[in-house]
Amino acid sequence: MCTIKETFSRLWLIFLIQYANATRPHIVFILADDLGWNDVSFHGSSQILTPNIDALAYSGLILNNYYVTPLCTPSRSALMTGKHPIHTGMQHRVLYGAEPRGLPLNETILPQYLKELGYATHIVGKWHLGSYKMEYTPTFRGFDSHLGFWTGHHDYNDHTAMETGMWGLDMRRNTDVAWDLHGEYSTDIFSRESEKIIANHNKSNPLFLYIAHAAVHSANPYNPLPAPDDVVAKFQNISDYNRRRFAGILTKLDESVGRVVQALQTNNMFKDSIIIFSTDNGGPASGFNLNAASNWPLRGVKNTLWEGGLRGAALLWSPLINAKKRVALQRMHITDWLPTLYSAAGGDVKRLVNIDGYDLWTSLSNNEVSPRNEILHNIDDNFGVSAITVGKWKLLNGSTYSGAWDYWYGPSGRKGFYNISTVLTSPAGKALSKIKVAANASMITNLRKSSEVDCASHHELVPCRPLEAPCLFNIDTDPCERTNVADEYPDTLSQLQKRLNEWKETEVPPSNLPIDPKGNPKYWEYTWNNFGDYTTYSVLNAR
Ligand SMILES: *[C@@H]1O[C@H](CO)[C@@H](O)[C@H](O)[C@H]1NC(C)=O
Ligand SMILES: *[C@@H]1O[C@H](CO)[C@@H](O)[C@H](O)[C@H]1NC(C)=O
Ligand SMILES: *[C@@H]1O[C@H](CO)[C@@H](O)[C@H](O)[C@H]1NC(C)=O
Ligand SMILES: *[C@@H]1O[C@H](CO)[C@@H](O)[C@H](O)[C@H]1NC(C)=O
Ligand SMILES: *[C@@H]1O[C@H](CO)[C@@H](O)[C@H](O)[C@H]1NC(C)=O
Ligand SMILES: *[C@@H]1O[C@H](CO)[C@@H](O)[C@H](O)[C@H]1NC(C)=O
Repeated sequence: MCTIKETFSRLWLIFLIQYANATRPHIVFILADDLGWNDVSFHGSSQILTPNIDALAYSGLILNNYYVTPLCTPSRSALMTGKHPIHTGMQHRVLYGAEPRGLPLNETILPQYLKELGYATHIVGKWHLGSYKMEYTPTFRGFDSHLGFWTGHHDYNDHTAMETGMWGLDMRRNTDVAWDLHGEYSTDIFSRESEKIIANHNKSNPLFLYIAHAAVHSANPYNPLPAPDDVVAKFQNISDYNRRRFAGILTKLDESVGRVVQALQTNNMFKDSIIIFSTDNGGPASGFNLNAASNWPLRGVKNTLWEGGLRGAALLWSPLINAKKRVALQRMHITDWLPTLYSAAGGDVKRLVNIDGYDLWTSLSNNEVSPRNEILHNIDDNFGVSAITVGKWKLLNGSTYSGAWDYWYGPSGRKGFYNISTVLTSPAGKALSKIKVAANASMITNLRKSSEVDCASHHELVPCRPLEAPCLFNIDTDPCERTNVADEYPDTLSQLQKRLNEWKETEVPPSNLPIDPKGNPKYWEYTWNNFGDYTTYSVLNAR
């Protein structure tokens, strides 16, 4: 019943959408788990080299003023929604497999927004935003496919996860249990799946590929750091045995980044891509979570509101960036990715309502001032902690673990030899050379030097006792949080306190719920399952 005019304008619209799709960049978001500030070798450590990650960093933007939240679930919720976890109820602790909750279903998430722009959307790896009912899992929330796991961690070889006193398999191919992958190393599975998605992708559409690694999160308590023995054996010079195994896990992660870059290059998609590499939170150092990451010289670890828990190792790479090959000092928060990527994809950011993130695409690309001056780190009344940065000032109040993880942890890794050839000849380095955007050796040396956090100018230690009184730091000159200036600047302290209270007014209560015994994998053939979808279980499934 259309008039000719209507038909014509419809055809025109279809043409416009097709044209726009063809010109939108592919987006590959690689999220490392629990990687510390000092675990990427572009930040100055030569103990464990990460040549593929480094090659992308030097050729793109080293995001040195970038903040994540201190934990897995909150960070992933922020990345997916563009909202601060205090606004979605995800601000306290992580989500457990037998906990009957998830990221609220009324939230629109990143793959859904990108789908509107014509993207094919895939997730590989860890979800950790709810799975007690199928409708919370990735393929019901905007992803075309998922190969990976639902909970917070799993073993890298048998893919079982032990938590809250329960144990079961956690590996899925879309909604099915992937029994067949037993024995294959998780990082290799995710690399291969990513390569497959890239190769099979219909090149007339843009691709959004979210690769959320298990690495370098610790696995189960009885074997916390599973890495291939032959890779671990190359690190005989690391005397700390846990750190040596960590080196194996990290090397596999770096290798995966190289494989993904190479797959993009082989399929002629690399030059039209945006690649992000980011950690989800600060590193668990020195035995925290049975792991051996390093945030040196930053203070604190994962799940603390010190810089070591919050300041994220990250890079942004794309030929679309105008001012590249630099250390980007634009202040950024993990909630900013959603509007930033939506904007880079040509979407109208005005469509994104009630989010907390800022669109940083123009300021990052052109090296202009960031629209973000303030970062609320968290308000967690259950842990009794809160922190906020406004301009150069950071207020920190309270401490998790009664202050047990409030110190500085190594290793610094400054003794080893940084072999620039490994960067230039890595798979990522070679792919960059092919499209003529690799940074040269002298540039690499300069960038690496200027991306290091330097605390040498701060000798004075003015103690901060956050369990007794809030502390104040000048984070620009004192990123290592050595000099508490709360007594010196009481007005600044109270201004930040006021901002924190304003944020607090907007908070929704944490959504955490008690563990539901019904979620125990023993009732579900020893798999972590969507137990909330079933009313009968014990008779049918108990073994
Ligand atoms: C989702 O529902 C919760 C609870 O009713 C509400 O607080 C929140 O604002 C809703 N979010 C959206 C995006 O509608
Ligand atoms: C690829 O996508 C385009 C545009 O959506 C479509 O016209 C074409 O049929 C697709 N090709 C294949 C092989 O599926
Ligand atoms: C610091 O945290 C404690 C415990 O949550 C709270 O009672 C106190 O009001 C906070 N103080 C400031 C200045 O924020
Ligand atoms: C240890 O060996 C690795 C791999 O050969 C090397 O990259 C690193 O620089 C060495 N570390 C030290 C401290 O010598
Ligand atoms: C540096 O790396 C290159 C390429 O991997 C290798 O051939 C060379 O032997 C390394 N040099 C040293 C001193 O380790
Ligand atoms: C390295 O690259 C920079 C920036 O592109 C350039 O100015 C410099 O001349 C190059 N150095 C060498 C040795 O090629």
